[in-house]
Amino acid sequence: MNVRRLLALLPVSLLLLIIPTAPPSTAATVVAFGSVVPAPVTSTAAAGVTYGITVSTAVYADPGAEGVGERLAAPLRRSTGYPLPVSPAPGAGGISLLLSGAPATVGAEGYQLDVTATSIVIRANRPAGLWNGVQTLHQLLPVAADSATVQPGPWPVPGGHIVDYPRFGYRGAMLDVARHFFTVAAVERYIDQLALYKVNYLHLHLSDDQGWRIAIDSWPNLATYGGSTAVGGGPGGYYTKADYQQIVSYAAARSVTVVPEIDMPSHTNAALASYASLNCDGVAPPLYTGTDVGFSSLCTAKELTYTFIDQVVGELAALTPGPYLHIGGDEAASTAPADYAAFVNRVQRIVAAHGKTVAGWHDVTKATPLPSTVAQYWGTTTNDASVKTAAQNGTKLIMSPANRAYIDMKYNSRTTLGQNWAGYIDVKTAYGWDPGAYLTGVAASSVLGVEAPLWTETLTTSADIDYMAFPRLPAIAELGWSPYSTHNWTAFKQRLGAQGPRWKVMGVNYYHSTQISWPGGS
Ligand code: ACM
Repeated sequence: MNVRRLLALLPVSLLLLIIPTAPPSTAATVVAFGSVVPAPVTSTAAAGVTYGITVSTAVYADPGAEGVGERLAAPLRRSTGYPLPVSPAPGAGGISLLLSGAPATVGAEGYQLDVTATSIVIRANRPAGLWNGVQTLHQLLPVAADSATVQPGPWPVPGGHIVDYPRFGYRGAMLDVARHFFTVAAVERYIDQLALYKVNYLHLHLSDDQGWRIAIDSWPNLATYGGSTAVGGGPGGYYTKADYQQIVSYAAARSVTVVPEIDMPSHTNAALASYASLNCDGVAPPLYTGTDVGFSSLCTAKELTYTFIDQVVGELAALTPGPYLHIGGDEAASTAPADYAAFVNRVQRIVAAHGKTVAGWHDVTKATPLPSTVAQYWGTTTNDASVKTAAQNGTKLIMSPANRAYIDMKYNSRTTLGQNWAGYIDVKTAYGWDPGAYLTGVAASSVLGVEAPLWTETLTTSADIDYMAFPRLPAIAELGWSPYSTHNWTAFKQRLGAQGPRWKVMGVNYYHSTQISWPGGS
């Protein structure tokens, strides 16, 4: 018997029970208290307790936390339709963001969250801690809270107690805006996605062979000519200083620090094409729109090269409130090893003279790192002699092993976007390593944190970024935040899967990895 015949035989009263008259609402579903990504340090659910956000809920924020309060309330006003005023603490009931009363152990970025039937209270020592607490609260809201339009509610938040703080101080993501240019709006969208998973550094790869993406007043052709194309020959683009400052301040308001990278001495064709004088032979090469690496080099023997670097670094440092300035240093196949080492050593001093801490790809450990220089490991093995020696001499590392953390790698052979030179990386591979114990002979105390680089030779849209970053970015973010004692693939994939419905509401074009069971097939 077909369904239509069966339905025709049933009494109307029964039909009303089984035929849904409206799409099922997810708004009333109470999120599981233990579903947060990254996993908190300690989390205790209060069974059966929920706090309900209503039309009369207010947000109370201590002085210094008004911005965090506003960024909590603004998206909720959109989805709930409630006024959710933000006013000075203390207040009765409501949602309180307090810069007092947190355990000292949570440090500058941690927080304590208490959800009871009558209030939500986040306590932290610093606004960055409140921000991280708000990200946890965000994930405890019904997924409909992420809707861009008013939804019917109700808005329950599960009760419980969380004390949470990061394992590593550096939890980064890199976006390559050189191979393809991404607008300020696209970068801000990515910042919002990073913040949700407590990522606190955005490394922008601002220059490469195919494009120079930041206006430099003393060398204007870099942006106007060097930024005029991209991989595949598109129109490229660049950030004016005002654009760049907009990105930096948008990030800062979300506890994200921007790390600018000018890659050198290789990956410099866009600069060499913009100024003939930067070339050893005085002849500018044509612009480049292919994807080869290692063919370009600044002229390390020319004094003008260091004037150029001093001026570029000086202008960039002035736009950079954060501590780090990344000098690249990778794949310098067209620079003799001795010239490379002398170049990196000299450039480190230039960066330091402008008040910034040098970051570089781990190739810089072949020079003599300054005591403060941070090396970013991007290799595909767990043993690297010069990185090990540098670490043993005090160099701190950011861990981005390409066969684990490069989220531009394809998920598998059927993935149409991305590359595969470091292998295929599905979620389990991205998650399945310990940044503190990855490299032979490198102690956990040498590791500053992790970063998920996203190279964009094959990526041109925010939908492309979404597809490569989700769901792997939250896996890397969890490695950076959560204590390794919480590391458990079975538990992680459950929590990660629970993010799927939220990404769907947010319009994130995520990859439906078959390693994860996505609730409702979402
Ligand atoms: C790199 O992937 N060349 C750092």
